[in-house]
Amino acid sequence: MPSLHVTKPGGAAGEGVIFSGRNLTKIYRTGELEVRALNGVDLDLFEGEMLVLLGPSGSGKSTLLNILGGLDRPTSGSVIFKGHNLTRLSESELTAYRREHVGFVFQFYNLIPSLTARENVGLVTEIASNPMRPEEALELVGLGPRLNHFPSQLSGGEQQRVAIARAIAKRPEVLLCDEPTGALDSKTGILVLEALVAVNRELATTTAVITHNRAIKDIAQRVAFFADGKIIRVEENERQLDPADIEW
Ligand SMILES: Nc1ncnc2c1ncn2[C@@H]1O[C@H](COP(=O)(O)OP(=O)(O)OP(=O)(O)O)[C@@H](O)[C@H]1O
Ligand SMILES: [Mg+2]
Repeated sequence: MPSLHVTKPGGAAGEGVIFSGRNLTKIYRTGELEVRALNGVDLDLFEGEMLVLLGPSGSGKSTLLNILGGLDRPTSGSVIFKGHNLTRLSESELTAYRREHVGFVFQFYNLIPSLTARENVGLVTEIASNPMRPEEALELVGLGPRLNHFPSQLSGGEQQRVAIARAIAKRPEVLLCDEPTGALDSKTGILVLEALVAVNRELATTTAVITHNRAIKDIAQRVAFFADGKIIRVEENERQLDPADIEW
């Protein structure tokens, strides 16, 4: 029997486009000085994919991620998220966008020291519309047995996994991670990457991970290479490596 040719929109995950960034620029002006943080960036993100953004310091990675996440606005260009032009949203609409659709993970975990892991995650689930239980989110990142520990009783990597659980507990469509392993040694960093991969697989959360560690690019389906405010190329990995198998 001949096979059926079903055409899908292209993309590493074989799914539709969730973000479409076009001709994005960001210019910072401080007094006389002008810095072009982004200088004409085009990038699509596909539903459910794992994308790594790789590039040297100052190349514009965080600037792009912050624009995708609605933390910042471009100077020019557009970002379409599921048919909505983020650059046209009001401040309150942008806040609602972030709250409903985006999870963030940063290099520093920003957990509340006086609250347990479960309580830190619970702060978010209380205000979300369709959250998972904090226990479930912590289970997903491998911290089921550490629910009642305070941040000071957890390693750096465990604290970062609590931060990931907190970011995903509201079931965001997108998870944006800015140097999530930047403060961690390789062994701990790998556990954090394992948690991100597990979330991407199990919840199909579109995930973008910034790093300047080249080894980490192998966990992605696609890699966007940054230099001087531009994406100079995008590579598709033939296969995704398990974080445990990357050469850190
Ligand atoms: N608020 C700001 N005001 C002025 N310049 C800024 C601001 N934020 C970023 N920049 C500049 O924009 C450029 C891009 O910064 P960005 O933070 O996006 O780089 P990055 O690739 O994330 O670097 P790193 O790997 O060091 O985090 C840099 O030259 C930076 O100095
Ligand atoms: Mg940065």
